[in-house]
Amino acid sequence: MKIPSEILDCGAETAIVLGSGLGPFADSLPQKFVCEYDKIEGLPKSGVPGHAGRFLVTELGGKSLLVAQGRVHHYEGWSAEEVVRHVDLMHAAGIKKLLLTNAAGTLNRAFEPGTWMMISDHINLTGHSPLRGGPNFIDMTNVYSPRIREIFRRSAKALGVNLHEGVYIAMQGPQFETPAEIRMAQTIGADAVGMSTVHEATKARFLGIEVAGFSCLTNWGAGLSSAELAHEDVTAVGRQAAGQMVELLLHALPEI
Ligand code: HPA
Repeated sequence: MKIPSEILDCGAETAIVLGSGLGPFADSLPQKFVCEYDKIEGLPKSGVPGHAGRFLVTELGGKSLLVAQGRVHHYEGWSAEEVVRHVDLMHAAGIKKLLLTNAAGTLNRAFEPGTWMMISDHINLTGHSPLRGGPNFIDMTNVYSPRIREIFRRSAKALGVNLHEGVYIAMQGPQFETPAEIRMAQTIGADAVGMSTVHEATKARFLGIEVAGFSCLTNWGAGLSSAELAHEDVTAVGRQAAGQMVELLLHALPEI
């Protein structure tokens, strides 16, 4: 992978991956350096609407921040190893802390669509791992940093933002779940369901990067409401809720 020097030497310790509908978050930040994914050899490029597919070097709260605007998904046909190439790139650029965001369906009756859930743990039901191929028996306790979670908890409280915490379950997709799959996910302890994040979190953990994850709860899981699920609705709710995450990040980043 040939990584532009502006990224390699960006000086950021923290990076953020923006999921469905959250891309516009980056538009409000200073654009110090921008590079489309397809300009970087060896990096897969997203074809999903709402996932722009570019790196942005910016600044937030006086600190350099590396933003991955859009991600590729396993369901697009990329392997779990390919899906985490941008994490490899961030590691090469010296990133020590990674914030992952996504859009997810809510499975918890107390977590309303339009709110955010901080990920406390995950269940990987994709059947794949980016660490396949080696005896990579890494510990997966506390993948989602208790230290960073505490900082965000305090920020949410200070700002009056309703930030839930719960377990994220990843399905392979690309179809949304059946109501029976949603009932299974609830039964085995999940609060939110999506199709990303777990491979990135696993690879970051492997590389020694401190991870936090945030799900924008865009809809009720299938069967929990009478509404039919549509990707456009998911991205629209994501855009509306993005403002809350900006507020949280502005407050929390200087402490991270
Ligand atoms: N299921 C899976 N992925 C999702 C959902 C969902 O309900 N909403 C947003 N991403």
